[in-house]
Amino acid sequence: MQKVLVLNGPNLSRLGSREPDIYGSTNYEGLVSAVTDLGADLGLSVDVRQTDSEAELIGWLHEAVDNELDVVLNPAAFTHYSYAVRDAAVQVTKSGKKLIEVHLSNPHTREEFRHTSVISGVATGVIAGFGVTSYLLALSAIAN
Ligand code: DQA
Repeated sequence: MQKVLVLNGPNLSRLGSREPDIYGSTNYEGLVSAVTDLGADLGLSVDVRQTDSEAELIGWLHEAVDNELDVVLNPAAFTHYSYAVRDAAVQVTKSGKKLIEVHLSNPHTREEFRHTSVISGVATGVIAGFGVTSYLLALSAIAN
């Protein structure tokens, strides 16, 4: 079974209680089950992780490169300023694997600092604004 890493950056463990008007009412456990269930339907073995640490997230991207895994990445706030996460992400796409940037909200409709993504330029594609469905669309793109 093809394995896919679904990686979540800072504060995403707080889903459900964190600004539900923006991020929705599904909690992190709900996100994990929705993603894992669709992955199984698509024939993908999905490993969903969350960290508040930039170093840990970078380590997981290195793991994706070393193990030739496609990645669905919600870099959360790192999206907007982390050149270190970008430098790790580009290694995934340059290795020939997919890296799909996802966001629950549509950052372009929000504060100006969210309009910049330092990740998008090295991602295979970007899906934003559909809540948990953003992740499900990304998995479908990988499966296809
Ligand atoms: C987010 C959007 C980011 O701007 C924000 O910092 C997040 C979540 C999203 O999924 O909509 O933490 O990546």
